[in-house]
Amino acid sequence: MLHEVVSSALQLPPLVYLAVVLSTILYMRARRRVRWHIPPLPCRPYPIVGHLPMLKDGFSKAIGKWRKSTGDIFSLYTGPKLMVVINSYALVKEAFIKHADVFSDRPESVIIKNTPFGDLGIIHSSGANWKEQRGVSFSILRSFGMGKNSLGEKINEEMSFFLQALSDLRGKPTDIHMLANASISNVICSILFGHRFEYDDPYFTKLIKLMDENMSLLRYYPLLTAFPWLKYIPGPDRYGAKKLLQNLQDTSNHFKYQLIKTTEDECGTDNFINAYYQEKRKREKAGNSTTLGDNNLLRVIGNLFVAGTETTGTALRWAMLLAIHYPDTQEKIYKEISDVIGAERTPVIEDKSHMNYTMAFIYEILRFACVAPYSLPHLCSENVEIAGYTIPKGTTVIANLYEILHDDETWGDPYAFRPERFLDKDQGVTVPEEFLPFSLGRRYCMGDSVAKMNLFLLVTGIFQRFEVRAEDPKNLPSLEPRLSAANSPQLYRLRLIERK
Ligand code: HEM
Repeated sequence: MLHEVVSSALQLPPLVYLAVVLSTILYMRARRRVRWHIPPLPCRPYPIVGHLPMLKDGFSKAIGKWRKSTGDIFSLYTGPKLMVVINSYALVKEAFIKHADVFSDRPESVIIKNTPFGDLGIIHSSGANWKEQRGVSFSILRSFGMGKNSLGEKINEEMSFFLQALSDLRGKPTDIHMLANASISNVICSILFGHRFEYDDPYFTKLIKLMDENMSLLRYYPLLTAFPWLKYIPGPDRYGAKKLLQNLQDTSNHFKYQLIKTTEDECGTDNFINAYYQEKRKREKAGNSTTLGDNNLLRVIGNLFVAGTETTGTALRWAMLLAIHYPDTQEKIYKEISDVIGAERTPVIEDKSHMNYTMAFIYEILRFACVAPYSLPHLCSENVEIAGYTIPKGTTVIANLYEILHDDETWGDPYAFRPERFLDKDQGVTVPEEFLPFSLGRRYCMGDSVAKMNLFLLVTGIFQRFEVRAEDPKNLPSLEPRLSAANSPQLYRLRLIERK
């Protein structure tokens, strides 16, 4: 009987075999999906577009609502792609620390991939390339003083230009957004290129504007990642896909220009770029194969410039906005500055250990505003079990840092702005382990110490010299965030009144 079945089957046309093989593969995959038991969906996805239409009012609103309805871990479909959102400290820790080998890559970004040297560098790269670029960049940054007093000196140098520019405003209502970003990115520039830029340098102002525009355009990231062909649709650029690609190309050209200029400038040897090339030569001379090279370096420079500017700049704008909303807090910081530093001396990083209230204010800004609310996407590189669910290989995983920093159980009153929560009963600084504005695990932010130093010196420097006031005290600017890839405050104007 079996023999008859086999011999008749062997006489079937090849197309039938193909159909049988394909159906079997599809059947097996479907069965595996059922067995996989992926984290629950908050609601039924639409065909083809998945949950994307429900994200139209902003990713944060939708996923904040779904965390309440669906729990600490849930799945979404961005178009046909599966994404898992993790909303609790315990589960993010389980994923990024316990299963670090599985969750330390980045998903391929079809937007970035199509730009020059797309997934090279640090932020968007994975595997051996990421490891070497991150390791080398980290040790060069450390050699340039990251986390040490010598960086504090660089920040103070920049600060004197910034405070003078603020003083030149003479209390006129101003949006200091671009000026603050320029000052913050000058600290990174002095490491990368060995010099700062004037605030009105056309090359520099164009770069800062491009970056700012990109942050706003990146709010369509899930849509553009699911449907990259949107950039080919003729007519109006509704989701900014064409504009974003053009901007990324322009930004890359800007960095290329600066890279060439820095390597040709024989006077400026003390910079990140030269240190990177030195390391490359050292590795080649030792006969080691290396990923260090021009294309990777170009991306690394762009990564550090963007990651180091937008985030810290956004946190500083929240700090000024919240100081306007909470004048008592501003006065407490001013009192601490008067007690510890006085009016004449420039704040230095060593003052930090005597200024607990100011540090508590900075921690509360980073918690309350959570400028990188969803961290950066991670890729699950193997099927893995988290909280009894299977996350399949190839899934994009989002750590919802905003929810972790606004969790009722951890923080009690998460939506209140209250720096005192970071002070213990003896007024010492206390930071709960759930405080994760810089994420955690192998992809942990590379610039947290630079950011904290910059924020401390900026906040103390500004409040020492100025009282920060609203443009119209009866009509304070909104605390509702603006739609952007970062959690940015709305654009607002303030007045800086010299204290003496
Ligand atoms: C308030 C300021 C900042 C915040 C809140 C912040 C937050 C973050 C977060 C949440 C990530 C993603 C981590 C992950 O994927 O799990 C990240 C990555 C990164 N940050 Fe920051 N950051 C800040 C400032 C900086 C600064 C000043 C620099 C550079 C000097 C920097 C460089 C980077 C880089 C290079 C990465 C990518 C790391 C990797 O992919 O391995 N950041 N940051």
